[in-house]
Parts: sequence; C-alpha cells; structure tokens
Amino acid sequence: MCGIVGAVAQRNITPILIEGLKRLEYRGYDSCGVALHVDGQLQRSRSTSRVADLESQIGTARLQGFTGIAHTRWATHGAPASHNAHPHFSPSSENARIALVHNGIIENHDELRSELQGLGYEFQSQTDTEVIAHLVDHMYNGDLFDTVQQAVKRLHGAYAIAVFAREEPHRVVAARQGSPLIVGLGEGENFVASDAMALAGTTDQIIYLEEGDVVDLQLGRVWIVDADGKPVEREVKTVHAHTGAAELGPYRHYMQKEIFEQPRVVGDTLEGVTGIMPELFGDNAYKIFKEIDRVLILACGTSYYAGVTAKYWIESLAKVPVNVEIASEYRYRDSVPNPNTLVVTISQSGETADTLAALKHARALGMTKTLTICNVATSAMVRECELSYITRAGVEVGVASTKAFTTQLAALFLLTLTLAQVNGHLTDEQEAQHLKQMRHLPVAIAAVLALEPQIMAWADEFARKENALFLGRGIHYPIALEGALKLKEISYIHAEAYPAGELKHGPLALVTDEMPVVTIAPNDQLLEKLKSNMQEVRARGGQLYVFADVDSRISSSDGVHVIRLPEHYGLLSPILHVAALQLLAYHTALARGTDVDKPRNLAKSVTVE
Ligand code: F6R
Repeated sequence: MCGIVGAVAQRNITPILIEGLKRLEYRGYDSCGVALHVDGQLQRSRSTSRVADLESQIGTARLQGFTGIAHTRWATHGAPASHNAHPHFSPSSENARIALVHNGIIENHDELRSELQGLGYEFQSQTDTEVIAHLVDHMYNGDLFDTVQQAVKRLHGAYAIAVFAREEPHRVVAARQGSPLIVGLGEGENFVASDAMALAGTTDQIIYLEEGDVVDLQLGRVWIVDADGKPVEREVKTVHAHTGAAELGPYRHYMQKEIFEQPRVVGDTLEGVTGIMPELFGDNAYKIFKEIDRVLILACGTSYYAGVTAKYWIESLAKVPVNVEIASEYRYRDSVPNPNTLVVTISQSGETADTLAALKHARALGMTKTLTICNVATSAMVRECELSYITRAGVEVGVASTKAFTTQLAALFLLTLTLAQVNGHLTDEQEAQHLKQMRHLPVAIAAVLALEPQIMAWADEFARKENALFLGRGIHYPIALEGALKLKEISYIHAEAYPAGELKHGPLALVTDEMPVVTIAPNDQLLEKLKSNMQEVRARGGQLYVFADVDSRISSSDGVHVIRLPEHYGLLSPILHVAALQLLAYHTALARGTDVDKPRNLAKSVTVE
C-alpha cells in the first residue's frame, strides 16, 4: 500500500510529484523518492524521512524534469532503508535505462530474482519491485508500452506500477492488477496516481483503470489496453477530490482535530435523514432488503469493530441473523454461502485490499446482494457494491481512525433501523424516538469531549504503563476492542480487550496492581454483572479506570478511578463511549511523545493483503 504518482508534461513536474506524494503519505511513509528524465539520463532522489525532507533534497539538487515518477513506501519486502526506497533503477548502475515504482506484492519474486541474477542483473535492494525493474529492462524492445504488456504477464500477485525508460523521454507506462491506479488527463500533459486526491489542483479529469489494464501516457494521448491486450475506452469522470490536509487550527495533531470534529461529521452523516427509508442506501434497496434473510459483514481493523457493534444492533432490533468476518480470514476460508445474504462491507478508505478481495470472494460464492458503508464515494468499494451509504467524515488524516469509525456507527444504526422497518419490527413511534436520539447525537458527543481535562489526568498515569486491559459487555465489547486498538497503535502500549465475563477464563492471571483495567460501564442491563467482574479485578489488586454513565452508581474508591459520561445513551451509547477512549489513547500517546498522526509501521490505507 504504497503511493504512486507519475507525469509526462512540458513543464517541470517536480512540484506536482512532491505535492502528490504529500497527499499520498497516508498510504505509507517508510521512505519516498522521485525519478526524473533529465538531459537524456535518469536521475533520482530518495529519502527515508518524510516527503518534506525529499522536497528539500530535490530543491538543493535543483532536480527538474518533464517526465517522471514518484513513490511513498510502506515496507513489505526489505527494511525501510534508502536502498529499498523506490524508484528502482535497472540496471542498478549510474547508466540506468529503466525507472520503476510499484505498489503491491509480487508473489513469484524469488523465482524471477534467481532468473534475472542468472542473466547477470545485480540487485541493490531486497524489494520485489527491483525484480520488476530488471524484468522490464531485460525484456525491453524499444517500445516501453509493448514491453510492459509482455512483462506483467510474468508477474504473480498484486501490483500497480509506473515506469519510464531513458530511450523514450516523453512516455510513462503504468499497469494495475489488484492495486488501485488512476489516470489524470491534462492539456498536453497526462498523469498517473494511486488516487485522484494526489492530483487535486492539477486535474479533475480522472479515469479509474480496471484490473489488468496497461496504460500508455504520452504528452497528447492516453492509450489503454485491457488484460487481453485489446484497446479499451474507459469512462472519464470529473472528480472533485478533497485536497486532504486541512488546517490544524487550534489542535496539535490531526487525530485530536478529527476526534473533535465528530459532533459535526456524525451530524453531517445523518443530515437529510428525516425518516427511515431503504432508498437512503440506493434505488434497489427495498427490493434487496426484502429478499435477504441474513447479513454478512466484511471488514478489517476498526471498521471490523464497527461491524461487530452492528451485529448486536441488527440482531436485537431487526431480528436478522448477522455474521461478522475479518476480511483477510473470510477470503481464504471455506464457508457456507447463502444467496439470500446481504453482504455489507465497511471501509473508511474503500480501497482496503483484504475487504475488496473478501467482497469478490462472497460474490463468487453467489452472494450478489452487496452494500458498502464507505467514506470515499469514488472508491473501488463503492463502485463494486450495488448499494452504498457514504459516511461524511471528510478526509481523515490521522492514521488511527476516529471520526470515520463513529460515522460508520451512525450509518450502521441507520441500516439497522431500515432492516427493522422492512421486517416489520419498527413502529412509527419507535422510529420517531430513534431519529430524535440520532439528531441529538452531536450534542451528546460534544459533552463527552468536554471531559478531556479529566481524561488527560488519567493519560499521564497510563503513559508510564506497558500493558493495559479493556473490558466491556454487550454492545460495548467491540468498543473495548476499539479502545485497546487505539491505545496500542499510537502509544505502543500493549493492550487487550475482553468481554468482562470472559476475564475469569484466563486473562485474570495477568491482573496485578501494575495492571490498569479500563472498564466501560454504561447503565444498561449488564451493569450489575459488570460490577461483579470489576470486583474480581479489584480483589487481585488491578487498578480500575471506569468510564461510567452519570447514573451508573459506581463511585471512586481505592484503586477505582471513575469518569462519568454526562448521559446514558441506550443503544447509541457505543458512539459516546468510544470518543472517551479515543481521547485516552491520544493523550497517552502525547505523553509518551510518539508520532501520533503517523505511528510507526502503519499506513492509512492498506491496499496490500
Ligand atoms: C485503525 C485503523 C485500521 C482500519 C483498517 C481498515 O485505527 O484505522 O484498523 O480500520 O485498516 O481500513 P478501512 O476502513 O479503510 O477499510
């Protein structure tokens, strides 16, 4: 899940490539690099720091050119070192003929590497990408477009590549299979990128390449062939891509800003919903919702936890059985398909490779009724699903998902009510009541965010710990999972979440007076059971940090720290409790001095499996 941008133009393209890379950093930031055609030679600059560092290197070196490619990397094969940074050259010497960038994973790279070494190619990196560069060089016949079409036939796995050749100064060739790639059309200049956002401000005329496409970019023309080598016309769309990095305003990090945007974006996501209507999900939604008798939710990470929350909601209100699967598992396991299933994918980016593959797998098994809850209207996920609900979180810059998650929950609750209505389980009175509560959500979330000073005091204590447990029950169990994920991914504290009743079946062995145990304690029907679980922790010396509702009747005492959320919010309570856990993770990470918006080893969009 790296980011690619390339251009062929009649002006210096380095500012376009650098700006594109800045917008693509969400796809990985282990290293970055640019290669340009300069006076009949290939030249490049690479950095294991951020794009801003690459920009100043390029400025110092006065690197300029009309044709080139650029890349921001999330390491798969080979450490995040400069010799593994893209673009890769072939031959690897100063006399390079081919420059290439790649997103994806080439599964037969070992075999190809041995073959190319046998032909005398020397490798400078451990990457699978360098293999493709040498392969293209080896097969080069003076026509890069033709060569790439032949070369990609040798590749097994997923790739989006962009490549140019020393001998063809006004040409960039690109290809995709399993990784996203778009073409941007300009006046006498053309571009390629991993997504339309990378080209915002340069062009809004976008072609979404399809699986197997190979594209020839020249100054005045774009020529595409499909996987069979047949010329194809792909639709040109006008895409008003967000330019991404909004101003930070009074916030220290995007994550903090995005946490505080939640009242607004949850409101935006529900804007215009004056009643429960299947059409909110697409024209054909009523018919599809009527036909299905079960739901299969496919997602990864935080989006998966949104799905688990939805399972509790849908089974309770709509009485439809729900199965929630981690996409990377589902796509490879034997399962029992049922054509009457509504397949729901949940994805912030809409480009997550595992979720897209799981969706295709479900469809291949005959489950063709598909719906996505997604934050990017132009994404592959939305294009691939028949029905959709677009959350309106806006661009999420922080790698740790916050506002995307709560808007997913808002959309999933809407889906729950819609399925309940279609199945005759929602009276007009209940509908009105739920809608009223949903309209009040922004105010309720804002009241939780006002607890920030109290949460900051806890964060200072957490920052000194290396482990933490999170407990929840019922609809708050997935919220405990999400709270633990937030803490570990940005503060690097090891955190695990359990349904509170499960503690005594093993994890209780971990509890000592050194172990902070975050407990989500809303005033619901499981509260008394939860209180018994809390006693089990206290009896072993564990330190309880309890997020209770105002009326939970839990008081602070020795080893029991309590923060009260202002109101109990019934079925929508997970949306409030998770906001408190996001703040705890954020302030703990801040106290530990980590790179909150770009935590180590991660990327915002996971487009490799
Ligand atoms: C964690 C996080 C990830 C994503 C996951 C799926 O904070 O953001 O766990 O939720 O990678 O990504 P999407 O939602 O884009 O499919």
